[in-house]
Amino acid sequence: MTKNNILFAAAECAPFVKVGGLADVVGSLPKALKKLGVDVSVIIPFYESISIDEKDLDIIKRDVEVIFAGKIEKVDLYKTTLSNSDVQLILISNKKYFSGDPYSGDKTRFIFFSKAIIETADLMNFKTIHCHDWHTAIVPYLAKNIKTIFTIHNIAYQGVFDSETINLLIESNFSDEINCMELGIENSDIVTTVSPNYAKEILTPEFGFGLEKTLNKRKGSLFGIINGIDPDQFNPEKDKAIVQNYSFEKIDKKIINKESLQRECFDSVDLEIPLIGMVTRIADQKGFNLIEEALPELMRLKLQLVILGTGTEYYEKILTNTSNKYSDKMFVKTSFDDLLARKIYAGSDLFLMPSHFEPCGLGQMIAMSYGSLPIVREVGGLKDTVIPYDQKGATGFTFNEASSQALLKAVNTALDLFKEKSAWRKLQRDAMRRDFSWENSAKAYLNLYR
Ligand code: GLC
Repeated sequence: MTKNNILFAAAECAPFVKVGGLADVVGSLPKALKKLGVDVSVIIPFYESISIDEKDLDIIKRDVEVIFAGKIEKVDLYKTTLSNSDVQLILISNKKYFSGDPYSGDKTRFIFFSKAIIETADLMNFKTIHCHDWHTAIVPYLAKNIKTIFTIHNIAYQGVFDSETINLLIESNFSDEINCMELGIENSDIVTTVSPNYAKEILTPEFGFGLEKTLNKRKGSLFGIINGIDPDQFNPEKDKAIVQNYSFEKIDKKIINKESLQRECFDSVDLEIPLIGMVTRIADQKGFNLIEEALPELMRLKLQLVILGTGTEYYEKILTNTSNKYSDKMFVKTSFDDLLARKIYAGSDLFLMPSHFEPCGLGQMIAMSYGSLPIVREVGGLKDTVIPYDQKGATGFTFNEASSQALLKAVNTALDLFKEKSAWRKLQRDAMRRDFSWENSAKAYLNLYR
């Protein structure tokens, strides 16, 4: 049997199972690689929550043995394809370990997953395993005779286990606790992360989350490659979820989506009011402490705010309470709603991302494709993708300091420019014309594989 090429291993893959941006990357980058001729497959756990039509599902092999915690466990390997493609998606099925959602069970499930990945790669003759985030970061440590690449999507989640637990699970002899992400960084052939700027930032204590020293040792093998977005999925010209399709040439039509969004979220429609959207995890990382501080002032300004996301209860409450009090200015929905997300990208004038750190960020790229101008903090991939309004080819607004004052200053700058219709149009056009497709980044990965 000839050697298969690349096996993408991750905890999430859109549209089958998605919690965050990781899923979007794992569900779209392989398709771009395939277009370049790379033989790539994806492997994820077959969580109970995944539903796939039986006609789209084939069995690869039943009762594959995985040694875990000193016992023989069995998994079934299924396959299907990524949507609109012929990229093979392998699903590892085991009822005991993969019940519920990705992060509902005990996190030792990902050690089991990692052991099963090694068995599968061996069985199916893969040449390289491309691991993503801590859930598969122990694979490079466990793998023998196989090349590994490890991609960091979010260094804040590292997967730490005490030595007793891990020694039992993988029959090792660690004397201290282990950190999966650290093992991934140390043991993989190549380490990458999802933007050039973040690749620099994680070498510093401010952004390294304690792993900056480990990363500095691997500096020569660390690469930052910017994420792309799937142009079939996020395209205002084709998006079926929005009320009016439009392109940068027919940008005037975008306003119909604004009108409809205002109608859906507020009592009255006023197209002269700048509408700021957010589609986000409601977490500290995303800068909600800055928003909390800025809220009283934001509610005094001439603007409307539409926020969609789930996360920390504390912030969800503050946002919901404020939206109840200022129902003509602020709308909040704390659940997952892909349809509303798309309506926000299409219907908003501005898109806010005041993140404390942002490895890449996909929201700002989607927003720009839909002509909604991002207001972002200059960190990670946000800095790499948004050109500030006072520079040539500007596509949005940026601020540097992590403070509510800096955030408000950027918002005010944006609101001022909103009044200058022709300047605003130019920014929108330039934003919509930017190329956020995977093509260049897929080529960069291909180079690394070679
Ligand atoms: C994580 C990061 C985000 C990145 C995504 C995909 O969710 O927080 O910045 O865009 O992974 O790489």
